Amino acid sequence: MDKTAQTDYPIHEFLKTRWSPRAFAAQPVETEKLLSLFEAARWSASGANSQPWAFIVTTQETPEAFAKLLGTLGERNQLWAKNAPVLVLSATLSEREPGKTNPWAGYDLGQSVAHLSIQASASGLLVHQMGGFDRAKAAQVFELPAGYAAMTVFAIGYPGDPASLPDGLREREMDVRTRKPLSEFVFDGAWNQPLEEKIASAG
Ligand SMILES: Cc1cc2nc3c(=O)[nH]c(=O)nc-3n(C[C@H](O)[C@H](O)[C@H](O)COP(=O)(O)O)c2cc1C
Repeated sequence: MDKTAQTDYPIHEFLKTRWSPRAFAAQPVETEKLLSLFEAARWSASGANSQPWAFIVTTQETPEAFAKLLGTLGERNQLWAKNAPVLVLSATLSEREPGKTNPWAGYDLGQSVAHLSIQASASGLLVHQMGGFDRAKAAQVFELPAGYAAMTVFAIGYPGDPASLPDGLREREMDVRTRKPLSEFVFDGAWNQPLEEKIASAG
């Protein structure tokens, strides 16, 4: 099963091989490797260097915390996420100071998780992000401080065997990965004027 992105233009191998699996190997993730992933997140850009993110890491070796986080996931996500070696709650500090929102906080957190995902590719690991969870419950059970909002849960691990997945999910694991073409969202100086056409007309 090859999930490598079929790109129209060359990109780095670590970007090409990143994807979101549901089947993970039981093999635990080394703490040093986990720390490198969060180090990558740490060095991403953020508005005014505000770094408005926080992560709560749970693993199969910390079953109580893992179960607490798993319990916030939607049913379909629980089906596969229960076997991931690591589940992480991401949270964003959505206020710059009490009462003053930071409009870029979500953007910044997403960017830090993108960094983390690419560092994962470089370490032979894969990340699967989820929005399908109860954000209010997660904030409550993990006692997030005022100003912090639960944003996503993500699984981390080494690639596993799709045969281990329940019916339905097993087939989806094999799906061909698709994307919109660049012409639909990258424009040349004006809305809906594809940058790609520049190349076509020059060629
Ligand atoms: C914010 C966000 C929320 C997502 N929520 C879920 C989810 O609840 N369950 C799930 O199985 N995948 C979820 N995904 C994974 C996406 O479906 C996946 O990234 C997308 O289909 C592209 O596939 P790829 O990551 O393999 O390239 C989410 C991804 C992101 C970034």
